[in-house]
Amino acid sequence: MNKKIAVIKGDGIGPEIVTEAMKVLDKVAEKFGHTFEYEQLLMGGCSIDVNGVPLTDETIAKAKAADAVLMGSIGGNTATSPWYKLPADKRPEAGLLGLRKALNLFANLRPAVLYSELKGACPLKEEIADRGFDMMIMRELTGGLYFGARKTEEVDGVVTATDTLTYNENEIRRIAIRAFDIAMKRRKKVTSVDKANVLDSSRLWRKVVEEVAKEYPEVSYEHMLVDNCAMQLVKDPAQFDVVLTENMFGDILSDEASMITGSIGMLASASLNDTKFGLYEPSGGSAPDIAGQNKANPIATILSAAMLLRYSFDMDKEADAVENAVNKALKDGYRTGDIMSEGMKKVSCSEMGDVIAANI
Ligand code: IPM
Ligand code: MG
Repeated sequence: MNKKIAVIKGDGIGPEIVTEAMKVLDKVAEKFGHTFEYEQLLMGGCSIDVNGVPLTDETIAKAKAADAVLMGSIGGNTATSPWYKLPADKRPEAGLLGLRKALNLFANLRPAVLYSELKGACPLKEEIADRGFDMMIMRELTGGLYFGARKTEEVDGVVTATDTLTYNENEIRRIAIRAFDIAMKRRKKVTSVDKANVLDSSRLWRKVVEEVAKEYPEVSYEHMLVDNCAMQLVKDPAQFDVVLTENMFGDILSDEASMITGSIGMLASASLNDTKFGLYEPSGGSAPDIAGQNKANPIATILSAAMLLRYSFDMDKEADAVENAVNKALKDGYRTGDIMSEGMKKVSCSEMGDVIAANI
């Protein structure tokens, strides 16, 4: 097959980790007889430096014209980077939010799996890590607090900031359907996470999820309050299969879930619309502190490329090959600094990419 992949390397460690994912994709193309054509696009801080804005119409149009988008990470050090002197809607993160909205990428899949080889890197107690876990966080990605109206103004002489959290039933229904569909292919359990004891938007969330659940009698489901979920994730992560939640809760819980896998450098993600199109990026940030040093962990980005093959290109064999290649690298003892433990072989970002590509 001949496929067009738009590539947004982005900022910080973005260029390094994406280069490794492309190395692995090239190996897949060679082994399985495909052609992947890449087009590099700017978004985030690097776009601000060139275009003055984090996201241009050109990037949106070219991303739309591709079969899928592979992304690294965007943003810089919020305390020191000049990007953060700009108004909020001109900063790198606004570019990412704008791109997700423009491409209608409402469904964000973030799989958090504890690899048995990485049990030592899991910060949880041994008896919890020993049970392992394999969950899929389904985060709603184009609604809620991150997209509601916001303002900062003076009210009676006092500076006051307002953000608004809005969901309509259709936005909730479409992500809930995705979550139940995915649960059907997994262990058939959905935990819907909300704050229904306080928020109206969460009470609507619960009602709509219950309606959708009726259509999936084989899937068992439960509601869980977000504060309790944060606690359960470190107490008993094995209980979760599909975790369905709104935008901000999913942002926070997915970072927590990634940390218990051993490192945020392990968590892949797919952001999908209602077609086969998707944007694939590691869940972690741009890690400006280690950028350019060839020590970032490229595994989350390589696993995101595997999700790209599976969800946008229907290339299941190829995606399996990438995931197996990552497993083999870990089994063979290769570790970047973030997941390093005694007796293992410490490798750089590019060496990890080489090892995984060679395993394809
Ligand atoms: C993520 C990131 C983004 C988000 C930021 C960079 C806007 O934290 O993908 O989780 O909050 O969605
Ligand atoms: Mg986040």
